[in-house]
Amino acid sequence: MNALLRAHSGLRYVVLGLLIAAIFVAYSNWKSGKDGDSKIYLFALIATHTQLLIGLVLYFMSPKVDFKQLKVDVFRFYSIEHVLMMVIAIVLITIGRSRSKKMVGADKHRTVLYFYGMALVIILVAIPWPFRNLGSGWF
Ligand code: HEM
Repeated sequence: MNALLRAHSGLRYVVLGLLIAAIFVAYSNWKSGKDGDSKIYLFALIATHTQLLIGLVLYFMSPKVDFKQLKVDVFRFYSIEHVLMMVIAIVLITIGRSRSKKMVGADKHRTVLYFYGMALVIILVAIPWPFRNLGSGWF
């Protein structure tokens, strides 16, 4: 549980880095009208799906997931808010990538830009940053 939690916590930076890189690449490919796929779109998808898998295991083991204590911020956050927002974000990334695969040229990259962009905002909001006082640190 502890090793999984450390991995899940550290992987947030891999997810954020790859998403920001993918968004940057999608924007420049869109503007330059470049064709062809970019591997960075796939890597960002893989990183978020890895978080989903680890998160699912944590969800069934974590003492912070408790539906009897939803009035307490920390329990409500991990039992509902964190999972719900993260799953929505991961679905957006999955839809964005699969739609973009069927497209060509500027449309392809614009689709990645919009879907990954929406997902990034949701993920940033759903991360238990230390200043949100949910008992989690930077790592
Ligand atoms: C991109 C997706 C995700 C990111 C970036 C992310 C990030 C994080 C971070 C930074 C923590 C705090 C770790 C710590 O306190 O050291 C955390 C905790 C947690 N996450 Fe996620 N998460 C994601 C997706 C998910 C999903 C999809 C689930 C469930 C299906 C999930 C379940 C949990 C649980 C249960 C905890 C609390 C574990 C505990 O402290 O006992 N996460 N997550």
